[in-house]
Amino acid sequence: MKISILDLKAQYAIIKKEADAAMRRVVESQNFVLGEEVSALEKEVAGYCGTTYGVGVASGTDALILSLKALGIKDGDEVITSPFTFIASAEAVSLVGARPVFTDIDPRTYNMDPALIEKRITSKTKAIIPVHLYGQCADMDPLKEIAKRHDLKIIEDAAQAIGATHRGRKAGSMGDAGALSFFPSKNLGGYGDGGMIVTNNKELADKIRVLRVHGSSERYFHSEIGTNSRLDAIQAAVLRVKLKYLDGWLEARREKASYYNERLKTLPLILPHVSEYNVHTYHLYVLKIKSDLEKMMCFLTDAGIETRTYYPVPLHLQQCYRFLCYKKGDLPQAEAACDQTFAIPVYPELKKEQMDYVTEKIKEFFRG
Ligand SMILES: Cc1ncc(COP(=O)(O)O)c(C=O)c1O
Repeated sequence: MKISILDLKAQYAIIKKEADAAMRRVVESQNFVLGEEVSALEKEVAGYCGTTYGVGVASGTDALILSLKALGIKDGDEVITSPFTFIASAEAVSLVGARPVFTDIDPRTYNMDPALIEKRITSKTKAIIPVHLYGQCADMDPLKEIAKRHDLKIIEDAAQAIGATHRGRKAGSMGDAGALSFFPSKNLGGYGDGGMIVTNNKELADKIRVLRVHGSSERYFHSEIGTNSRLDAIQAAVLRVKLKYLDGWLEARREKASYYNERLKTLPLILPHVSEYNVHTYHLYVLKIKSDLEKMMCFLTDAGIETRTYYPVPLHLQQCYRFLCYKKGDLPQAEAACDQTFAIPVYPELKKEQMDYVTEKIKEFFRG
């Protein structure tokens, strides 16, 4: 049996009629960039996330960059973030001229450990970017308290976590701004790149709307230096179709995760940990194995099961961040997570027989 880590064709088969009609509607309108589809999606996604404003941009990375820019983060500033995430969380900080400062993670949730943040704060620190990794929110309450005490902004990297909740509040709605990604593989993915900033701050939303169109609120008049980061209407039309299915899909992901949990719980593996007050959305289902990660992944590959490590190198040890002078051992939990974790296939359309096959093969690995 061949099982890929994600099967977007299975999802397309379910929504084909609606998605095709939505794309055709845009093609027939010949309005491809921003416009009514994007405005409608902005309202719908903001409503879904429990925020007042949504601003569609070209990618999740741009959602982070433009949030940082609009909040005034610049050259010479420091921004604290996780070392165990996709590069974009830190890259955005670097691209506005600031310096990412990495703080270690909680080994159970893989999210930033709030107890370790304060000692990273200096007079240059201006913001914190918590990353809601794998579809589970970071521990926001202590984080918000720290931010308040030190007058720091919070930009939630909710790229992997649309729909996840923490104490009933949706990912992206708890900080000054939330950055969403609509990259195709995300839980709400378009048919190309896309992203959105959600916020309750009108001034911030307005500023980002200007920044995303070359710093202009009136054509050919530019109040500041912006960029081209517009969401296109085809993405918005597809995402509007998909948004209606999102809660059902997230519930299906949770069901798959509990099925895996049940069948894997007696094995020498560390299962995903869900913090109290969190509702996980399982963008990824990640297991930890204390030794033999490579052997396990090769064994599953040979059995036709795709696995992946998210992420194999922590950001503080990436070549591009050598100039920050971190060394191995500085952030031991993030480093251990890179060496010991692997994701197995999870998506709403995954079948019971496929999950049985995956769990049977994992059991077989341990039987030796
Ligand atoms: C945690 C995280 N942050 C940011 C991004 C960037 O999003 P995008 O690929 O839409 O630029 C991603 C996704 O790739 C991500 O997983």
